[in-house]
Amino acid sequence: MRILFEPIEIGGIKIKNRIMMAPMCMYSANDGVISDFHTAHLGARALGGVGLIIVEATGVSPEGRISPYDCGIWSEKQAEAFKPVVKFCKSCGTAMGIQLAHAGRKASTNAPWFGGGPLSIEEGGWQVVAPSPLRFDESHPVPKEMDKGDIEKVIEDFAGSAKNADKAGFDVIEIHAAHGYLINEFLSPISNKRTDKYGGRLENRARLLLEIIGAIKKGNWPKNKPIFVRISAVDWVEDGFSLDEAVELSTALKESGVSLIDCSSGGIAPNAKMNVYFGYQLGFAKKIKERAGIAVSGVGLITKPEFADFILSSGTADMVEMGRELLRNPYWPLNAARKLGVDIEWPKQYLRAKI
Ligand SMILES: Cc1cc2nc3c(=O)[nH]c(=O)nc-3n(C[C@H](O)[C@H](O)[C@H](O)COP(=O)(O)O)c2cc1C
Repeated sequence: MRILFEPIEIGGIKIKNRIMMAPMCMYSANDGVISDFHTAHLGARALGGVGLIIVEATGVSPEGRISPYDCGIWSEKQAEAFKPVVKFCKSCGTAMGIQLAHAGRKASTNAPWFGGGPLSIEEGGWQVVAPSPLRFDESHPVPKEMDKGDIEKVIEDFAGSAKNADKAGFDVIEIHAAHGYLINEFLSPISNKRTDKYGGRLENRARLLLEIIGAIKKGNWPKNKPIFVRISAVDWVEDGFSLDEAVELSTALKESGVSLIDCSSGGIAPNAKMNVYFGYQLGFAKKIKERAGIAVSGVGLITKPEFADFILSSGTADMVEMGRELLRNPYWPLNAARKLGVDIEWPKQYLRAKI
């Protein structure tokens, strides 16, 4: 047996192996409701043997979406639409998670294949909000600075969406606090210049995230199902959010009942100088795991089975998370097991292909 294919228990749920599909926006929902595309897309990765799928950034409110084509889970209708695909994926033995998201000042943009970029209100976009009235770059609009009422609404939106995620049958919720979206905008000193209790020192910048978790835990998400948080461990800019702050934040998140930190990076600043290579974010995951004493997933250009197994056997991360490689190859886990000489269960319909 290789550790990649050993089951793991995180926050009370058992996951059949350590392969996690990273959340990836597919821009294929209608009014936030998933489409047939999602059924095929998620179903294929479940058949392919992924241990835990994290469904793409899913809006907790209409204005929290990155684009008009994002999935949403603020309504019963959206939750209902998730039910059959969640049920099918779980019948394949795959645990199902969903990333709950608010895009903040990076909301209201077009789908990449329509050119991406900000959508004006005339083009079907909407007023974006953020902790401070600072735009992402010259092409983006200046966001409205959130007042107390706006903050309370976002907290309620996350809590209500967590409740809907539970109703839809999800095993895990992951809060999106990375990549320059709303919660990351509060966490980072680059985008948060507030002078109230939500700005200034880290304890204040982390307040929104911790209040969201508090609200989710108040009867909106079962105690026996885990909450994950995806963070940008560093901003990759001078005077930005640092790895030391990420460790401090992860420690507070652990104390608040979070089960896993999904360690990504960047996204807050257009001028960030990211150093990208195979496994480039794993050092962040390892440090957070060691210093905050919490389970972590490692993500970023992980493509090879041997490397994935080594990440786990070396104690760098608890889960190996993959994005683009799983888009290229939905059956990666089945093929990886064969490559590593591990006999895993295949879908019975595919058994004649298991050599
Ligand atoms: C098409 C696409 C969509 C993405 N959408 C999201 C998303 O919804 N939420 C998120 O946190 N990251 C998103 N990401 C980042 C991935 O989750 C992942 O962290 C990144 O692609 C690095 O992993 P990889 O090298 O295995 O692809 C997206 C990446 C891609 C390629």
